[in-house]
Amino acid sequence: MSDKNRHLLSTRIKSVPKSFIREILKVSNHSDIISFAGGLPNANLFPVDEIAQASAKVLEENGPKALQYSNTEGDVSLRNWIAQRYKDKQGIDVSPDSILITNGSQQAFDLIAKALIDEGDEIVIENPGYLGAIQSFSLYQPKMLTVEVDDNGMNIEQLENVLDNSKPKFVYTVPNFQNPTGISYSQQNREAVAAQIEKHDCLLIQDDPYGELRFSGEEKESFYSLIPERTIMLGTFSKVVVPSFRIGWIVAPEWLMDSLIIAKQASDLHTNYFSQLVMHQYLQDNPVDQHLEKIIGLYSKQREAMISAIEEYFPEGVTVATSDGGMFLWVTLPEGMSSMDLFDDALESKVAFVPGHPFYVGEPQENTLRLSYVTVDSDTIREGIKRLGKCIKNRMS
Ligand SMILES: Cc1ncc(COP(=O)(O)O)c(C=O)c1O
Repeated sequence: MSDKNRHLLSTRIKSVPKSFIREILKVSNHSDIISFAGGLPNANLFPVDEIAQASAKVLEENGPKALQYSNTEGDVSLRNWIAQRYKDKQGIDVSPDSILITNGSQQAFDLIAKALIDEGDEIVIENPGYLGAIQSFSLYQPKMLTVEVDDNGMNIEQLENVLDNSKPKFVYTVPNFQNPTGISYSQQNREAVAAQIEKHDCLLIQDDPYGELRFSGEEKESFYSLIPERTIMLGTFSKVVVPSFRIGWIVAPEWLMDSLIIAKQASDLHTNYFSQLVMHQYLQDNPVDQHLEKIIGLYSKQREAMISAIEEYFPEGVTVATSDGGMFLWVTLPEGMSSMDLFDDALESKVAFVPGHPFYVGEPQENTLRLSYVTVDSDTIREGIKRLGKCIKNRMS
């Protein structure tokens, strides 16, 4: 659209910046570039044959019913499966009635924002934080307050300070293997965050797409165990099975569920019913833990390859945030070095990453960057990190 027609656009849409990451991915997607920039899972692990079998079985057993409209809440067998998984894996009791199936967790952001945010309302997000959530919330024009995250989780002093001086609708968190930093909140940090949420009478969103991808370390308690009445949990099959089905979910308190259902009806009536049935059939016929073992086996091997290459090829003064799982490593370059400048050098050396800038609301920390280790094999990871190390050293000299 030309600028001449810009006045036709809503203020809402004009307030959301163009996706910087999309621009980066466009330049880094050439086949001769070793890209650590993507945020996608490794497609070699997608259970293609098993999904073909599940699809055939769903059609055989349900006939045209599988192709009809369905209810907004989502398929009840799938919701039962999710509730049982919470029980088995995390020991928490979630009623299937408190689960709403969404079009990925990306839609969960939109529905929650629709139901909770009026223009100018305050919300709290992690800094750096997940871009997709920031973009989705922005459309509802809230005032975004930020709290820094580090190896241990949220900065509690900052959180307390922000909550003392505002009245946010919610605090948005990714406590397990966060995107972009890969860090997890420690048990102690979770308890401290939960205490602040209670004290200030607000809600917490726990977005958890990577929690099942743990390579090492102890499982931590869910915010839902600590403050069930104040926690909205988000989940997704995108990183555990496949993202194309676009199946995620919200676990919401009873008082919020009707509003979310209205928001979802207005948005798309319901999540693709056929996909829900196929996902459920797939999960019935294929133990998810076996599939997770394969994902964890490959990703942890590639993560090790990346870490050992970093130790070998990156100069002193570069640090990597501690991570026990997920898909990303967060690198801090020596003070004063811009990852945006490094990005240009790296592209010339045919290697790509995402500079830290787009993940910050407000002033970015210039010397940070995100590396994904999941889609590149171990030998290529070594070569890519070697090239990147050379670029960093050149900038230092
Ligand atoms: C933290 C976080 N939340 C949500 C999503 C979106 O997931 P979905 O595919 O379920 O929409 C992603 C995807 O990368 C993510 O990293």
